[in-house]
Amino acid sequence: MAHDTYLYEQIAEELSKAIAKGVYETGQKLPSLRYISEQYDVSMATVIQAYQGLELKGLIESRPRSGYIVSDRQQEQLEEPVLTQPKSSPTHVNVGHLAMSLINEARQPGMIRLGAAVPQAELLPLGSLSRNLAGIARRKPRAAATYETSQGNVELRKQIVYLMRESGVRCTADDIIITNGCLEAMGLALRTVAKAGDTIAIESPTYFGVLQVIESLGMKVLEIPTHASTGIDPAALAKAIRSRKVSACVLMPSFNNPIGSSMPESHKQQVVELLGKNNIPLIEDDVYGALSYETKRPKSAAAYDKTGNVLYCSSFSKTIAPGLRIGWMLAGKFHEQVIYQKFLDNISTTIYPQLNLAEFLSKGGYRRSIRHSARIYKQRMEQLRRWVSEFFPEGTRITNPKGGFLLWVELPKKYDCLKLYRKAMEKKIAITPGILFSAQGQYKNHIRLSCGSVEGEQMRKSIKVIARMV
Ligand SMILES: Cc1ncc(COP(=O)(O)O)c(C=O)c1O
Repeated sequence: MAHDTYLYEQIAEELSKAIAKGVYETGQKLPSLRYISEQYDVSMATVIQAYQGLELKGLIESRPRSGYIVSDRQQEQLEEPVLTQPKSSPTHVNVGHLAMSLINEARQPGMIRLGAAVPQAELLPLGSLSRNLAGIARRKPRAAATYETSQGNVELRKQIVYLMRESGVRCTADDIIITNGCLEAMGLALRTVAKAGDTIAIESPTYFGVLQVIESLGMKVLEIPTHASTGIDPAALAKAIRSRKVSACVLMPSFNNPIGSSMPESHKQQVVELLGKNNIPLIEDDVYGALSYETKRPKSAAAYDKTGNVLYCSSFSKTIAPGLRIGWMLAGKFHEQVIYQKFLDNISTTIYPQLNLAEFLSKGGYRRSIRHSARIYKQRMEQLRRWVSEFFPEGTRITNPKGGFLLWVELPKKYDCLKLYRKAMEKKIAITPGILFSAQGQYKNHIRLSCGSVEGEQMRKSIKVIARMV
């Protein structure tokens, strides 16, 4: 399987280079599937997969009875949004109510959830999880008879040690704290390192859930310029912390929500060192890190932490099942304080989902499951980018994420995306307006789209409908 995967990607790559060099020109027929299969000594299925990949990218088209030809509709790639320029003063946050009402509206039955950061049920290993749960309930009927520790189930923590290793962090089960999803972890981290009135540095734009937590804790945010592909600008962050008192920094270094940016390794190291030197705790949200389109996931920022200054937060919500509500954190030098805070909040996380995940991970199905999902998200992302490029007006910019399932779309300035959101809702299509991702009312002409749970013809039609409204 791995061998085949490698080959189809290799074939697709070679053909796309040949098209780029003009070896095959627009309208020209590509070699037949059989010819390529013989040339590369691979199965027809592998060649078909390669050709379908090129078709998704818009490079080739299949024509009845002629096979595949080089497309004359090869999309010009839309440009990426430029570095954001938020105001450089701390802001009170006030997005909570708007965010909740939009989330609730989007969850109505029958909605096409084109903006929701949720994975599709069909891509989750729900069968294994429910079989595990039935087995555990039979074998361990007394599991819920006592409290789990506040730190969380040790078998699950042992499994998470392996996942952390893939993100470049060497730790033991003792370093890990199980939480009710990543958002609880973020809240615990924020309350541990900062208090009401404090200022938290964040990427701009940033996930509205983080803004909501900050808002509920009475803290302020300092939005830092952020690049669509490389994430927060380290120089801008350095400048901001020189001129303001900042109590913590919250970042999504790998596949940020909503822009999908990924900080280069050197930036991660630089930022971790900068914040460490200035004694400003870094709260890392790595909830999308495992959904890389490459075979190897990027290192987390925590991998560069030598002083325990990073509070790493993640969960299984985007990879295995959001409804299990299981996340985890490594709180570095704040470990004991976080466990105490967790105890005060809810004593411990529910036991059965923890046992279920521990068993699922120990059986080794995790990697296969997320590699499969990531491959599908990658293909869908190519489609999504292609259709936005095809249907949206001139001057639109889009991001080019290398993982996860979120796409950030910047329309020309004159468009009001909250209005667009409302119009789209009338057609039962839920997009996410950009205004939710800033405390300063920025990003009025932006939307977040998602290929997490919408695909194929439904995605194409929905994009077309939105584009028409625009
Ligand atoms: C960046 C980010 N962090 C955290 C969360 C919340 O994660 P969880 O469901 O594990 O609490 C989300 C959910 O959309 C998210 O996108």
